[in-house]
Amino acid sequence: MQFKHTLIALLGLAAAALAQAQASWPTRPITLVVPFAAGGPTDVVARTLGASMMKTLGQTVVIENKLGAGGTVAANYVAKAQPDGYTFFIHHNGMATSTALYRKLAYDPMKDFEFVSQAVEVPMTLLARKDFPAGNLQEMVAYIRANEQKINLANAGLGAVSQLCGMMFQRAIGVQLTEVPFQGTAPAMNALLGGQVDVLCDQTTQTVPQIKAGSVKLYGVTTKSRVKVLPNAPTLNEQGLKDFEVVVWHGIYAPRGTPKPIIDRMNAAVRTALKDPDVVKRMDDLGAEIVPDATNTPEALQAWLKSEIDKWGPVIRAGGKFAD
Ligand code: MLT
Repeated sequence: MQFKHTLIALLGLAAAALAQAQASWPTRPITLVVPFAAGGPTDVVARTLGASMMKTLGQTVVIENKLGAGGTVAANYVAKAQPDGYTFFIHHNGMATSTALYRKLAYDPMKDFEFVSQAVEVPMTLLARKDFPAGNLQEMVAYIRANEQKINLANAGLGAVSQLCGMMFQRAIGVQLTEVPFQGTAPAMNALLGGQVDVLCDQTTQTVPQIKAGSVKLYGVTTKSRVKVLPNAPTLNEQGLKDFEVVVWHGIYAPRGTPKPIIDRMNAAVRTALKDPDVVKRMDDLGAEIVPDATNTPEALQAWLKSEIDKWGPVIRAGGKFAD
């Protein structure tokens, strides 16, 4: 009887301590894990949001770039992190596509995470090195078909949107190029600028400055409509690659078990950041679109991820490219 009373008292104390920890959260810096290289498109979104969220949260948001295996190393790391409200994760379509691309994933995107919020959508651009011998998409396709064995295509590994876009492009024009994987499109872009690789499909959040500076050649955008920040760039669809569409979306997650009050406060911080004029301007300048406020709920992200897993699974399986 005495033991039972002691146990109940201890449980009560533990619950009070937990409630206190949740109420005072955050009391130390928060880590936002980015699954690709620093300086690249995901990192740009993470750092822009993180800088704004610090104002709401009153704590530093530390960006940790955890690289490898097209984003799956980072996803697995976060899935197994302490659900204490100090580790969060930003990832894109790769959260969905990896379920089809990898025969064995060490985590389940639907079961091992809490869903915080969606954030921004980003168009992609089809690029080649500056001295690539083709002036438009038609010439590019003709050149690639005639030189299939010589052309290489950079990407950020299986699970990256650059790989997904490159796969769809190759399929659309009926070629199989040599793929050169990097740990993010920041190093892939460096290789394109240095002429070590020929072609790269990458997000406007990294490519707009390079396109505007004339450091790379642009052959089209991957969205159904033209992109405001690149008004002269035709879509791949309007240039004859019928129904070609890749839009990159970003979600923010936490390890499964992170307390709901913390998820809700993080959600509020993300939504506040998405209305911050500095964030709005930076995203606008880089061609990214902020997701409407009403869809930035944990429930909407969960439903969206499920629909993306269902959408991309068959597309990827038809491509027949898998990793263990
Ligand atoms: C990155 O941040 O490097 C990219 O999002 C990688 C990709 O998915 O292409």
